[in-house]
Amino acid sequence: MKPPDSLSRREIVAASAGAAMALSGLSARAQNIAPSDRIGLAFVGVGGRGTSAVNQALDLGTANIIAVCDVDSNAAERASQLVYKKTSKAPRTASDFRKLLDDKSIDAVMIATPHHWHSPIAAAAMKAGKDVYVEKPASHVFREGRILIETSARYNRIFQHGTQMRSSEVTAKARELLDGGVIGAVKMSKAWNQQKMTPPAPVADSAPPPGVDYDLWLGPAPARPFNPRRFNNSRNWGNTFEYGNGSIGNDGVHDLDMAHFGLAPQSHPVRIVAGGRNVDGGLDDYPDNMSVTYEFAGGKVLLYEERSWTQYGQYGVDSGNAFYGTDGFMVFSRRGWFQVYLGPKEEKGPSMKGGGGHPKHFADFIDSVKTRKPTIAPAEVAHKTCALVHLGAIAYRVGRVLHFDPATETFPKDPEANRLLTKQYRPPFAL
Ligand SMILES: NC(=O)c1ccc[n+]([C@@H]2O[C@H](COP(=O)([O-])OP(=O)(O)OC[C@H]3O[C@@H](n4cnc5c(N)ncnc54)[C@H](O)[C@@H]3O)[C@@H](O)[C@H]2O)c1
Repeated sequence: MKPPDSLSRREIVAASAGAAMALSGLSARAQNIAPSDRIGLAFVGVGGRGTSAVNQALDLGTANIIAVCDVDSNAAERASQLVYKKTSKAPRTASDFRKLLDDKSIDAVMIATPHHWHSPIAAAAMKAGKDVYVEKPASHVFREGRILIETSARYNRIFQHGTQMRSSEVTAKARELLDGGVIGAVKMSKAWNQQKMTPPAPVADSAPPPGVDYDLWLGPAPARPFNPRRFNNSRNWGNTFEYGNGSIGNDGVHDLDMAHFGLAPQSHPVRIVAGGRNVDGGLDDYPDNMSVTYEFAGGKVLLYEERSWTQYGQYGVDSGNAFYGTDGFMVFSRRGWFQVYLGPKEEKGPSMKGGGGHPKHFADFIDSVKTRKPTIAPAEVAHKTCALVHLGAIAYRVGRVLHFDPATETFPKDPEANRLLTKQYRPPFAL
């Protein structure tokens, strides 16, 4: 294991490249980065999102893709071929991420596995001296978020959370206007997530597909027979307690992230109430019709609404936010626009149209790996956002009002709720 204070190749590169690196986000050609000085990247989990991240890295052109890793060797091979077609160099493939940790040419790891694997892989990579881009939600259970903060601090590792709207120019402009008091004091924010989901029909257990290391896919989750309905594609694994976080932690986490951004509370909520159920049936552990109310110390309130049975949203936004202030409100879409409405007549105020956060968010990560300045969504920011997912889900599971202490990150005198802040890890996959 590399001591936290030793200088890695990328840190030496950062020091020598100096201020010029502040320009990163420009292409490698523009920066004249010698191939030997580029960041060495590995991708762990190259299904839908992992593959699009490989494409983002190729488009950005400021990093060498050293390895692609997937427990499904077919996926790893596909990703390797994708890189080969664009660069004439095939990255190494692996099914077990642990085999990559000793590779000194890998500076940073992008993790896009199912959620139960995010934190164990991120923590192991950081302990091995690698920087990490971790897809949302970074933690599968609440406690993991705190461990990620401690690990990135202890090993001095760069951390980027895959909540890309943080990097949009629309978000930056919204921050400027909200801080300038465009809608007065913001006391409430709302996040809604709406998409038409059809529950897939149940299917019988079967043998895992050829080329898949299914035991490693399960990893820290309980041993179970293979079932396609719980396997790859987030529509399958995403709505199970064991591997996913429901819609609230899959797509809804983007909206919760921006609701938190707009409301800007100081800490975690102190009181959480959730309700809902699975109105469209199916086998999902999580509800498809759900609401959560989070109250913060001082009285700010954040509302979350989940409607996974319709594609029609509100204020003309499919999934997004409203920030409510004393003088008006801002409707914010993560498709990349906002509109302010002011006063009792809801007159139109400032607005902006721009982009979503991709690919700037990935470029921000690569930039931070080089310059060692924190990313726009480091582990602390990730934990505040993911906490909303976990606390909402716990409130739904216990079915009563919860009181949370942000200082100790526990539910005082509530062993049932406290148990759900963490989980059992199947040996040898402890965090
Ligand atoms: N930021 C975004 O906009 C965005 C969009 C889509 C998905 N995501 C996130 O990306 C992640 C992946 O989602 P997806 O839709 O690509 O899922 P997916 O099921 O298509 O892909 C997951 C891949 O991870 C592999 N995998 C599982 N365990 C592994 C392990 N231990 N080591 C290596 N590979 C492993 C699987 O074989 C599969 O190929 C999720 O966290 C999801 O929430 C983010």
